[in-house]
Amino acid sequence: MKSLLNHKFIGNIKVPGDKSITHRALMMAALAEGTSTIKSPLESDDTFRTSEIMSQLGVSITNEAGRMTVTSPGAENFRTPVDVLYTGNSGTTTRLLMGLLSGLGISATMEGDSSIAIRPMDRVSGPLGEMGADISWKDGRYPPIKIKPSSLNAIEYKMPVASAQVKSAILFAGLFADGETIIHEEFKSRDHTEIMLEQFGVDISVEGLTVKLQGNQSLKPRDVLVPGDISSAAFLMVLAAITEGSDILIEDVSLNETRSGIIDVFRQMNADIEVERTSTEGEAIGNVRVKHSESLSSYELSGDIIPRLIDEIPVLAVLGAFGSSPSVIKDAKELRFKETDRLRAVIDELSKFGIRFEEFDDGFIVHPLSEIKLTDNDFKGYHDHRIIMMLLVMGIAADKDINIDDPSAISISYPDFLEDMEQLKQAR
Ligand code: S3P
Repeated sequence: MKSLLNHKFIGNIKVPGDKSITHRALMMAALAEGTSTIKSPLESDDTFRTSEIMSQLGVSITNEAGRMTVTSPGAENFRTPVDVLYTGNSGTTTRLLMGLLSGLGISATMEGDSSIAIRPMDRVSGPLGEMGADISWKDGRYPPIKIKPSSLNAIEYKMPVASAQVKSAILFAGLFADGETIIHEEFKSRDHTEIMLEQFGVDISVEGLTVKLQGNQSLKPRDVLVPGDISSAAFLMVLAAITEGSDILIEDVSLNETRSGIIDVFRQMNADIEVERTSTEGEAIGNVRVKHSESLSSYELSGDIIPRLIDEIPVLAVLGAFGSSPSVIKDAKELRFKETDRLRAVIDELSKFGIRFEEFDDGFIVHPLSEIKLTDNDFKGYHDHRIIMMLLVMGIAADKDINIDDPSAISISYPDFLEDMEQLKQAR
């Protein structure tokens, strides 16, 4: 980290593959009998949890030179896993698999790390239970989760929170259910499952905020191209916007509308950003260029933009501190249920740089930073990849060599984050 201080960041870069899309590609390729390939997947702790579990079900997965080859015997021929399925730190693996495993007709037990053990799972088991899934856990609420064979019925479900993980779990279960599964969202959450199910040959329709899926459908193998993860690109985008002399072009990154709220924020703040779409078929992909900006204004975010940038809020707090007036986030209570309580973590840790916050139950106001005053040089990462990378970006922008208790969780979504920054750095 010290070697990155007092530098500007310049150049073209590709960030690692999208985490959400990689999980889904592994799961759908596993469901489709035959061979599928996944190009440019995210190779990280979280996605390896999903691929290891698919292997435990009898799917063969090889990973060479940025391409995973998945050969599946088909969902009906999955084997009952002998060992517990370990989901590590991955909420996406845990929640999506609750839906997928429920319909398979096999028994399985899933367990994750200590953060998974305290994340809400009833939001998934509730609707799955209505569909007839047999899911139980130790003390009635927390993993380890036991799933037993059962027959599923389709449901019509109105989502109480905007959550793509819940929506996707229901859609996976809906594939094995009798009848038509219908989901209504209040605010649209990321739609990678809907897009990819269609690519794998499933009959699914999306009209506005309603998704409909006929049950008892099977998937056909195919090749999937994973774009760069805009949630990883976000750290480089903010770093470029706030570090003097910087100019970073991020290539082949996902521009999916349900994920690209951060681009709207950069525009709202009059940041220097250029976006070029290179493909709009299926998942939208393109290039994003951000240059340092002398005069960032501020943002006010609430309502339907929140699910479109939920994972970027920690690093957007840093961006807000470099604005000319206070920035506001509301309607983001979901952040309290991520890998850690991210609202608390953001406020507690960034306050150590002298950034002033006003905290709400569902967000914060971040005030412009007039002077960087380190009140404490020991930072906590909470084993949360996005909090750790947020702190690294802030440390570099502030030119401070900070201590983070345990930065290892970067490997959950962006294992080469520091190496990429080294590659982009130039003398100032
Ligand atoms: C994800 C959905 C979001 C997001 C998470 C990944 C997904 O969670 O925060 O990092 O891949 O579906 P929720 O669906 O719980 O909001």
